[in-house]
Amino acid sequence: MTTLHSGPDSVYDVLGIGFGPANLALAIALHEHGAGAGPEAPFRAGFLERQPRFGWHRGMLIDDATMQVSFLKDLVTMRDPTSDFSFLCYLREHGRLADFLNQKTLFPLRVEFHDYFEWAAARVGRLVEYGAEVVAVRPVTEDGEVRWFDVVSRDPAAPDRRTVRRARALCVATGLEPRLPPGAVLSDLVWHTSELVPRVAELVRSGRPVRRAVVLGAGQSAAEAVDYLHRKLPDAEICSVFAKYGYTPADDSPFANRIFDPAAVDVFYGAPAEVKQSLFDYHRGTNYSVVDMELIESLSRTMYQERVQGRQRLRMLNVSRIREVETSDHDVRVTVEFLPTGERELLASDVLVHATGYRPQGIGDSLGEIAKLCLRDDEDTLRVGRDHRVQTAPGVTADVYLQGGTEHTHGLSSTLLSTTAVRAGEICASLLARHGVRAPRG
Ligand code: FDA
Repeated sequence: MTTLHSGPDSVYDVLGIGFGPANLALAIALHEHGAGAGPEAPFRAGFLERQPRFGWHRGMLIDDATMQVSFLKDLVTMRDPTSDFSFLCYLREHGRLADFLNQKTLFPLRVEFHDYFEWAAARVGRLVEYGAEVVAVRPVTEDGEVRWFDVVSRDPAAPDRRTVRRARALCVATGLEPRLPPGAVLSDLVWHTSELVPRVAELVRSGRPVRRAVVLGAGQSAAEAVDYLHRKLPDAEICSVFAKYGYTPADDSPFANRIFDPAAVDVFYGAPAEVKQSLFDYHRGTNYSVVDMELIESLSRTMYQERVQGRQRLRMLNVSRIREVETSDHDVRVTVEFLPTGERELLASDVLVHATGYRPQGIGDSLGEIAKLCLRDDEDTLRVGRDHRVQTAPGVTADVYLQGGTEHTHGLSSTLLSTTAVRAGEICASLLARHGVRAPRG
């Protein structure tokens, strides 16, 4: 059944698709400028999120994992340090300001930052509809111009019912989706790290004995998964399989970290393609396939202690690749090749975890027809303006903004939290300017 709202009630100035931190930051910026959810609001904004409630990478909310970004890069501070949506205001409201200070850290626990996000999301909750997965977007033409988009959503819990809302502008922030090795099939025994915590909890609850778990990958999620499984499955051997010789430490040194400054977005945006590529190559070690040094040292210490004690549960199968995976109802047999010699080892395992990262969801994944109206350059990448607005074909006056998926135009921070607050401010200002509303503060 499709519910088609066709009256003015359903026309939004902007509809956000996805409600992770990126669109949450935009919702806050718009809210602070007086945007509302109802038709009477001077600027009407709404956000659609497929999850039943706010959730930020819930499957990786490992109890002691910390943020990899300073709390000052929260949803608002870099845009407006006086906003009461800051992490510091959250701490004050929860009576933990002094206690947090005494931790002497810039990097809160991931679970704590998740709680902060939830607190902020609840405060702008009237702008969001949860359980609303966008499944199609259709152009709406008037006098030969595409002036609106009809956004079709369904509730994953009741997929037969569809709702359509009309919007003058979209802000697509659908985030990342798990990347798997070619041919990999997920099952009760084969997981992606994005489902690690609930899967481990289920396994522990089931009481099923686990002799061995294999983790494929050498990035932060892989190292976290190895460490987590090692702690949670005290009788199991944990095998970390990767092609490198060893984990590579993340470069979070002060000068390299400047690549995540708002000013770096201007530099990157204005640079020729070859300079963009070299900046990306020089600094990919700030984010991709790298691990926090503290975690590397802790895993190395654990391995050595186990050697001394004569019971080695943590194994690194480096310079290796998984060549074959055979699954049955009760086990998963993983064949690993040591690349220098070609020697193969069969690991009879109870669990295989793919820590093989994520990829941004393409615009076509949720926008379908609209993707055809968006202009692409010679490299077939989307043309995106500095204000994060996608360049569209002639005759399209409705706007599409992108958060994430813009590494090729806006640089390495596009999929991260570093510039979330500032970017939200830029999009908010652009949206309001294009609708003739006074620009926001900050
Ligand atoms: P995000 O993926 O968070 O949100 C997208 C939302 O869109 C999701 O809620 C999804 O359900 C929804 N959605 C998707 N398709 C939809 C559709 N068709 N209809 C409706 N809703 C839809 N970065 C950093 O800077 N510091 C850090 O410490 C970390 N830590 C970290 C830990 C882990 C485990 C991961 C996997 C990633 C990080 N990151 C990170 C990077 C991460 O990309 C970043 O923290 C944010 O999640 C980016 O926010 P977004 O809102 O862009 O995407």
